[in-house]
Amino acid sequence: MTLKTLPFVKWAGGKGQLFDRLKLRMPDSYKRYYEPFLGGGAMLLGLQPEQAVVSDTNEQLLNVYMQLKTDAEAVIAAVSELDGTVCDTEFYLAQREKYNDKIRNRILDTECAALMIWINKHCFNGLYRVNSKGLFNVPYNNRVRGTSIDAENLRNIGTYLRNADIDIRCGDFEKACCDIRAGDFVYFDSPYVPVSDTANFTDYTKTGFLEEDHVRLASLADSLARKGVLVMLTNNNVPLVHELYQGFEIEETSVRRAINRDASKREGSEVIITSYKTGF
Ligand SMILES: C[S@@+](CC[C@H](N)C(=O)[O-])C[C@H]1O[C@@H](n2cnc3c(N)ncnc32)[C@H](O)[C@@H]1O
Repeated sequence: MTLKTLPFVKWAGGKGQLFDRLKLRMPDSYKRYYEPFLGGGAMLLGLQPEQAVVSDTNEQLLNVYMQLKTDAEAVIAAVSELDGTVCDTEFYLAQREKYNDKIRNRILDTECAALMIWINKHCFNGLYRVNSKGLFNVPYNNRVRGTSIDAENLRNIGTYLRNADIDIRCGDFEKACCDIRAGDFVYFDSPYVPVSDTANFTDYTKTGFLEEDHVRLASLADSLARKGVLVMLTNNNVPLVHELYQGFEIEETSVRRAINRDASKREGSEVIITSYKTGF
């Protein structure tokens, strides 16, 4: 029986909204599932493949998946303890400092996982942003929201990760694909190419994902497709993306964006790119 599982954090670029459209465009069958830009895991948790390799560069985020896999009850207990105190700015900043201590000392344990989940619920807009030293610096959202978790969901994620064959790796997307083989399926949901008139790659360096990384990703996607790997990607519908994926199928699709004062900017255009025909 498949247990219902949903992302445990709000994550920039989360694929909740596109999940159904992407699922319909996936190959009917494949061997292993690869997701090298895992983020909040909307795809992994929605699909629940039996065999997967998942990866990201954010080691604190991956630690949450690892801790849930090992002992979800311990994570639930640690978040519940944090939820036991009514939050105010002082308490939030103290937890943020504890979390940054974990980052400074590279302590990847249950408490670090619990802090990450709790902070995601209490920080401004569920943003994940670090400074040049890699320390988390998002302010408090000034709202007390009651419990930070759906305990049943965390339990189900732990059960899924334990029962299926899920290899959780940390690092760059190229490294994550080092052992991918013909017949495997890979979904690349990289940080997007910026779209607004003012955004450019200089502003975008905050995500650490530059134009040269997009070129590197397109080149990897091309070589994997040539070797018989089934490849799917998503990105903004911008000229650079069309240039980079000329040999691929590119389907434009509209998405709702976060509320913008300018009504014309509430609808965005993205692309679903595949190395195979989807029938759409
Ligand atoms: C658009 S988000 C993925 C969102 C995800 N699909 C979801 O549903 O939440 C992009 C992710 O790529 C990760 N990332 C950034 N640079 C990376 C790199 N060079 N290699 C692997 N992951 C990277 C970020 O940490 C972030 O979690």
